[in-house]
Parts: sequence; C-alpha cells; structure tokens
Amino acid sequence: MNTKVMYGSTVARHIRTDLEGTVLKLKEKEITPKLTVIIIGDNPASETYVRMKKKAAEKIGIQSTILELPSDTTEQYLLSIIQDLNQDLSTHGILVQLPLPDHINEKKVLDAVSPDKDVDGFHPINVGRLSISQEAFYPCTPLGIMKLLDFYGVQMKRKHVVVIGRSNIVGKPIGQMLLNEDATVTYCHSKTEDLFEYTKQADILIVAVGKAHLITKEAVKKGAVVVDVGNTFLDSGKVVGDVVFDNLLGHASHITPVPKGVGPMTITMLLYNTIEAAKRLG
Ligand code: GUN
Repeated sequence: MNTKVMYGSTVARHIRTDLEGTVLKLKEKEITPKLTVIIIGDNPASETYVRMKKKAAEKIGIQSTILELPSDTTEQYLLSIIQDLNQDLSTHGILVQLPLPDHINEKKVLDAVSPDKDVDGFHPINVGRLSISQEAFYPCTPLGIMKLLDFYGVQMKRKHVVVIGRSNIVGKPIGQMLLNEDATVTYCHSKTEDLFEYTKQADILIVAVGKAHLITKEAVKKGAVVVDVGNTFLDSGKVVGDVVFDNLLGHASHITPVPKGVGPMTITMLLYNTIEAAKRLG
C-alpha cells in the first residue's frame, strides 16, 4: 500500500495565503485583526511557541502583542489585565499561554476571557457550544486536524474513529468534531484496558498522548488513517510523535509526520480564529 503523507506544513501554507487575503479585505474596512498573547513566567517551550504565534500572525498582517508577565504575577492582576483586554476594542483575540504558574487558578483565568475573544476555544461557553454542534471558537489543534483530513479527502462519515487521549485541548474536542461529522467515535485513555484491541478497530486513529513510539503497525488496521498529535523532544534534540512513522509506511493509507504534520495546523487555526473574531467583533 502506498501511504499518503499528510503534510500540515503544505496545507497550512494554502490556508495562510487565503487568510492573508481575508486580512487585506478586513483592512479595507479599517479592521486590523489583533491578537494579544499573555505569557507568565519563563518556560522556554512556552516562550518559543508564543514567539512562533506572533511571527505567524504578523506574517499575514495580523497585529500581535505579547504581554510578558513575571512568574510572581498575582492571579488578581492577571484577571484585571484580561478584563481590560476584554473591553479593548482594538483586541479581537486573547490567548493566555498555558501552563500557568501553580499559584494561579487556570480555570478562573480561562473563564475570565470573553468567549467572543477566546481564540483558543477553551472557555466553557465555547466548549459547550462545540458539544451541541453550535458555531463557536473551536480549539486550534483539533480544528487543524479536521482541516487536514478534509484537505486530503479523508471521509469521516460512518467511519470508526478511535481517539487515544482525553485532554480538554485535543482528545475530547477532536472526538466531538468527528462525531459532528457522523463518525462513530471511541475514546481511549490511560485507564483503558487492552488499548490495542481498540486501536486495531480504527478506520481513523487519532493519537494524542505524548508518549514517544506508542503506536507501531501491530496496533493499526491495514489501510487506516493515522493522525499523530504527539510532540516529544528527545534528549538528542529530535522531535518525535507518538507513532513510529517509518513503521507505518506501506501499512496505513494516510499518516501525518512529526514534525510538519499537525503542528503547523495548530498555529494556522489560531490565525483563522483571530480573523473570525475580528469579522464578528468588527
Ligand atoms: N500550551 C500548549 N498548547 C497550548 C495552546 O494550544 N494554547 C495555549 N493557550 N497554551 C498552550
């Protein structure tokens, strides 16, 4: 079997070109989409992600600001900054980079972001809207996976999707999005017994665990579509997914690589959501 490699990097380029055009049209109406990213403390991985988000935004004409706050920032101060940004007419998207320092209550912070500016799709109102198939801001990684599957013509209707991982950011929402497309969805997680008995039944396998090399072809039905959301930095500096990519070549019908797979789609969807927010808020 010839395995089709699904490059998020390619799809992201197409979508970003379209988005650049949308930004130009918005600017003709004197609307410049603006994203504000808040980062607290000095987590090197978070700093890298935030810089990538800013750069990607600016490249397509979205204005972007990073608010860097020290690790001893109080929860109250952070909430007041968010309130100000909720009111600020020039800001369309607000993103609070996670993880937050231990002394700050993540739930309170995510609840404080206006659902209309919640470009991460983490606010309970947006989570609820997704669960009842309403228009909402959808979390960027699962939304990116949907666009990727769509681009490569992967049929979802009536397919059996097995999702490994039940995080609020990826596992749960990707299952709901696929359910909304009439897939039959099975969730597996760290307490699932006989994991591979489930994965072997999948027409589409979504792996979002963060465990390098978890999935080899013994765990996958021949001809299945495999989406690897893993992103583990090895000591060697190499980044690997949860799936042994080379092992699945010739076995899966479609597979995403790591890097250049799901990763570039996540940031692209952040840009997409920010532009949607700007369209809606004006
Ligand atoms: N930290 C890791 N991934 C994400 C993400 O998608 N959004 C935010 N806000 N923080 C993250």
